[in-house]
This record gives sequence, C-alpha cells and structure tokens, in this order.
Amino acid sequence: MIRSIILGCGAYLPAQILTNDALIKMRGLDSSDEWIERRTGIKQRHIAAEGEKTSDMATKAASAALADAGIDSGSIDMIVLATTTPDNVFPACAVRVQANLGMERGFAFDIQAVCSGFVYALAMADNALRAGQARRALVIGADVLSRLIDWNDRGTSVLFGDGAGAVVLEAREGHGTVADQGILSAHLHADGRHYELLQTDANAFIRMNGQEVFRHAVANLSSVVDEALAATGLKPEEIDWLVPHQANKRIIDGTGKKLGLPPERIVTTIADHANTSAASIPLALATAAHDGRIKRGQIVLLDAMGGGFTWGAAVVRW
Ligand code: ACO
Repeated sequence: MIRSIILGCGAYLPAQILTNDALIKMRGLDSSDEWIERRTGIKQRHIAAEGEKTSDMATKAASAALADAGIDSGSIDMIVLATTTPDNVFPACAVRVQANLGMERGFAFDIQAVCSGFVYALAMADNALRAGQARRALVIGADVLSRLIDWNDRGTSVLFGDGAGAVVLEAREGHGTVADQGILSAHLHADGRHYELLQTDANAFIRMNGQEVFRHAVANLSSVVDEALAATGLKPEEIDWLVPHQANKRIIDGTGKKLGLPPERIVTTIADHANTSAASIPLALATAAHDGRIKRGQIVLLDAMGGGFTWGAAVVRW
C-alpha cells in the first residue's frame, strides 16, 4: 500500500518578538508574566510585521521545507494550506503560495479547521497521495492570529502568536504495517454544537470561554490519542515523540501524563511561540527535527484541538 513519507520540514517565525512583560506594558493589561507563564506556559510570541501576510510566511516555511527535502517546487503536485487568516476571503492563500514558489502546475487549496488545521490538512494530503491523485504534496500551516486579537481582552490577548510551518510529503510503497515509514493513521473529528465556545465576534475578534475550551480539549485529545493507539496497535511506550498543538502547557502536560510520556519526549514550543494555531505543529516538528531530537524511524504522535470544535491526531513513522 502507498504511504505518505515526510521528506522534509521547514518553519518561519516573524522577526518581532513580544515578551509577556512587553505585551502587558504596551497594552496596559491587568496581568503579569508570572500569571501567564503559570497558567499557559507562554513567555513570548512572534508578531508579523505590518503588511506581512499569511502567504508570505507560508511561502518562507514551504521554501525551507522544500530545501530540507532537497526537492524543487516544480515536482509538487498539490498544496494544502491550513489557515484561519488567509490574505483574502478568496482566492485561496494556497494559490498565492503556489505562484510565489514559481509553480506552474498542480492544485492548491486552503483548509479551515482553526488550531486543528494542520492535522486536517495532513490527513487530506495523505488521502490524495494514497488515492494516487498526487505523488508529492506540500502541507502548510500558517496563521497571523495577532490580527484577530482584541488586545484589551487579557483572557485571549496573551495566548496567541504568528508563524508558519510546512512539510513535504511523498508517496512511497509500504507494506501496510506499522513498520512502514510515513503516516500510519490519521483521525479527525468535529462537534459543531460547541461553535460558540471559541469563535470570532462581529469585529472578527477572538472570543473564548477558556475554561470550557480547556475542559473539552483535555477530554477530546485524550480520546483521539486512544483512537490513534488502537488503530495502529502501538503502545504508549512505543511513542518516541508527542508533538502536540501548542495551546496551553497544562493541556499538553495532561496528554503526556495520560500516555505516561516523560516531558523529555514531548516537544513543547509554547514558551517561545505561544499558540500559532495551524502553524504550531509544523513549527514544533521543524524545531525538533532540525535540532536532532526526532530521528528517522521514530514514531511521532501529533494531536490538535481547535475552534468548532475540531480535533484530530496522526501517527507518523518519521
Ligand atoms: N492575566 C491575569 N488574569 C487573567 C488573565 C490574564 N492574562 N486572563 C484571565 N485572567 C483572570 C480571569 O479574569 C479570572 O479572574 P476572576 O476570577 O477575577 O474572574 C481568573 O484569571 C481565572 O480565569 P480562568 O479563565 O478560570 O483561568 P484559567 O486558569 O482557566 O486560564 C486560560 C485561562 C489560560 C485561557 C485557560 O482557560 C486556557 O488555556 N484555556 C484553553 C485555551 C485554549 O486551549 N485555546 C485553544 C484555542 S484553539 C483555537 O482554535 C484558536
């Protein structure tokens, strides 16, 4: 059977860094660095420059992923870009990236599943590769959530940052067992009954019931991780790396604890990146692959939960 192998990955973070202290001072927030770090694990976030668009960041992350994979954009058959903050309502941000990369062929579209976007995009690309619709895919997560923030709302303004990450997938023949390299399983869910718990208002500002989102995140991530283990037959101790969506350190720790994984086997970037929505998983993947933590042949478990609610997980042999 066909497996989607991750050939390479790349990341991009805007140059401007905003620490908790700088944010509090700049916006006059009734908050503290200590409160933010203790409740979320966040120390700082990157903020896109004025005029810096999602497609700009996505193009940089995609270029880095192509370079890491050692392939040319001309051999890419499909681009799936997960974003909640496209440059325009239409056309899709993905086609801008396609043009920026100098591509003249292939197909390209966006996916909107908020913070679960990258896992959704990865699953859709995997499906296309396994169906024979494409041989090589670029899967990108990119968001400028700083543009959806009511900076006076201390419950949300401290949580988010901007960035982009990307992976290159290639279809290769596998044996259909968990010994194969590539995406071994992917699991997606949505429950629109919780639409109002995390959404944008009429001014396009993020509004969130933080406690309820937290409660659902812990429960949904726990069940989807169980589902991924059951589907692959892998035991928690066989997971080399948990690379979760970075929304809150306490949610990440909860999933790690459930799996019995020591903190050293969980890739956590939230302190430096904050919640970058669809970009957070590919940013974390690129960080841990490039610093030598994630090695070829290891088992990586991805999980994410976002507005909708949407949530999902994927198991990958790197
Ligand atoms: N600084 C200081 N105090 C604050 C801040 C802040 N930045 N934010 C909230 N508080 C206050 C609240 O006003 C409240 O005060 P009160 O008791 O006087 O009313 C108090 O702190 C406790 O508030 P809680 O909401 O109970 O705090 P909690 O411990 O739940 O932490 C947080 C809030 C960090 C938002 C947490 O609920 C959380 O992380 N939730 C999940 C967020 C998440 O995962 N989002 C995913 C987004 S995914 C996407 O799709 C975009």
